[in-house]
Amino acid sequence: MPPKRVVEEVNELRAQIRHADEQYYVLDDPEFSDTEYDLRLLRLTELEAVHPELVTPDSPTQRVAGRPVDGFAAVEHVVPMLSLDNAYDEAELTAFDTRVRKDLDLDAGTAVSYVAELKIDGLSIALHYRDGLLVGGLTRGDGVRGEDVTSNVRVIRGIPLALKTAVSGDIEVRGEIFLPRASFDRINAVRAEAGETAFANPRNAAAGTMRTLDPALVARRGLGAFMYHLVERDVAGPRGESSPPAGHAAVLEQLAAWGLPVEGHWHRCEGITQVVAFCREWAEGRRALPFDTDGVVIKVDNLADRVQLGQTAKFPRWAMAFKYPADQATTRLLEIGVEVGRTGAITPYAVFEPVQLAGTTVQRATLHNAEDVARKDVRVGDIVLVEKGGDVIPKIVKPILSRRPTGDATPAPFVMPTVCPVCATPLERGDDEVVWRCPNDVCPAKVRCGLLHFASRRAMNIEGLGESLVSQLVDRGLVRDAADLYDLSAETLEGLDRMGAKSAVNLVAEIEGSTRRDFSHVLFGLGVRHVGEGAAELLARRFGGLHGLLDATTEEIESVVGVGPIVAESLRSFLDDPANRALLDRLEKAGVRMDAERVDPVAEVEQSLSGQTFVITGTLASISRREAKRAIEARGGKVIGAVSKKTSCVVVGADAGSKLDKARSLGVETIDELAFRKLIMEAGDAEG
Ligand code: IVH
Repeated sequence: MPPKRVVEEVNELRAQIRHADEQYYVLDDPEFSDTEYDLRLLRLTELEAVHPELVTPDSPTQRVAGRPVDGFAAVEHVVPMLSLDNAYDEAELTAFDTRVRKDLDLDAGTAVSYVAELKIDGLSIALHYRDGLLVGGLTRGDGVRGEDVTSNVRVIRGIPLALKTAVSGDIEVRGEIFLPRASFDRINAVRAEAGETAFANPRNAAAGTMRTLDPALVARRGLGAFMYHLVERDVAGPRGESSPPAGHAAVLEQLAAWGLPVEGHWHRCEGITQVVAFCREWAEGRRALPFDTDGVVIKVDNLADRVQLGQTAKFPRWAMAFKYPADQATTRLLEIGVEVGRTGAITPYAVFEPVQLAGTTVQRATLHNAEDVARKDVRVGDIVLVEKGGDVIPKIVKPILSRRPTGDATPAPFVMPTVCPVCATPLERGDDEVVWRCPNDVCPAKVRCGLLHFASRRAMNIEGLGESLVSQLVDRGLVRDAADLYDLSAETLEGLDRMGAKSAVNLVAEIEGSTRRDFSHVLFGLGVRHVGEGAAELLARRFGGLHGLLDATTEEIESVVGVGPIVAESLRSFLDDPANRALLDRLEKAGVRMDAERVDPVAEVEQSLSGQTFVITGTLASISRREAKRAIEARGGKVIGAVSKKTSCVVVGADAGSKLDKARSLGVETIDELAFRKLIMEAGDAEG
């Protein structure tokens, strides 16, 4: 067995991660920052990679599925997944109530109990639990057959892999998978940076994500889920309870008690008047939610009444979706400008006459990239239809072509500039990219954005160094890069607009204080492409700071769990650039901390495979290749790509090809996955 300390740490990390998942996704009350969470998960992944014998099927790491799946199987729903009939105004809601009361034979004085829930704008999902463990996830599909997306569902952090209370038998719960707005913004920002087309709204992004065959990608996207329906296959049986819930409100409470995520704003309404009030209340209230809602779902509470009401071919007759009208308005497009980001990416944006949309005044919208503008064919002077995509980010839907000025007054199509609007350097674009970039490293716009990033809270946290100040410093040639900040004196700063003597002294103290930030913040603050906050922290810890990192090869950087090849390559080429080395040198001379506490999860593992070389071939089912490699390396072994006479052993997975033939012809020892796991475990045993 691995050392007791490791087992304890693994258990502790799992408990913390499960608790954090529940706080965040189910109770909506996060206790950890994303980075704190990621670090725990990565530490656990690392420990499990080194000690695969500790992996359990419900470990939080098992959400981080590595291998893409081949395609989704179509599976029939046990009970068809229906959709909902829609009501677009209050009169239609009242008509629904009238019909329900008639079908239930209620007299005029008796109110129906309804449950009103927010209608989550995502895609529906059916989850299957067997004996309390998540065993399957199906999309709605055509309602009769859905796609088996179990591998993707397993990586959604809000969906428990195991129910909280032991529940025997089969349970099916249904609900919605959605993308929180914050994740949506983050994904689109990354896509824009990478020159990819942005998702139109969070729902499309969620649906697109669930359709990908790569669970690791799904895991990164940050999807959420809310459950709102329990499929009653055998009312008395599966949950082993004597009295199953009699009403929908009780069902929702039951789902929550199992640890399933339930959207908490649902309300039991006595009569349709209370339902209408609920709908009115959330017309505006929903805007403050972190996810999109496109309406309210009204459901008859009493489950026996539901049976009596029945269903049509498409809809249950006991429920109705009340849909809010979309927030759209028309306005005149005044200007299409372009702005330059930190990486030099050029983004067009629209400026229009101010309009009221979803309770706020808007007059600007991003146009993503030149292709987006061309596709929509929006032109300065057009009357355009604007919408708040996801209710937060305004966007231009389309020009109203019938209102476009004609004849000589016809506006000209937008032409993307060919030079940087700030430094006039000719723009460049990669072969398969849609984003144009300014390649000039000293472009004032890029320098400004880079400095703001360096000073930002999650990087060096230099309070007081905001946009206007950075612009002045750059425009006056006082600061050209991050290292220049440390040469600024209070006297120099005092000469700037809106900078008093006291603020100048404070800012100098803030800048000086930032030198004590851990190297991980420095690394993040440098804005190396693809190196996010989490990767920066992992790298800083693993290599103990700048100097360890400078000595590391791309392979060594990549071998850090949580750091992929794209990050490794980008970082290595950054560090190899003499200009960047000079910058780091100046930062170090200015007193900026370049060390970090070193943490190495492999330090204590017995070097039982020392001197041996391994080749891994074929697909391993229970461990990713990367983890297998790490487990070997942690024990002092080496993993190489090609089989030779000197190879000690070839680990053979499914569908192994020529490497296996070669090993056989050379008489090199081969072991299958099971034997490999045993080898790793025995090596673990030796630690005793
Ligand atoms: S109940 C038979 N409740 O809206 C019960 N649906 O437009 C059917 N939706 O297909 C679903 N939030 O994907 C229900 N609180 C909620 C919902 C909800 C979102 C979705 C669901 C449904 C679609 C119909």
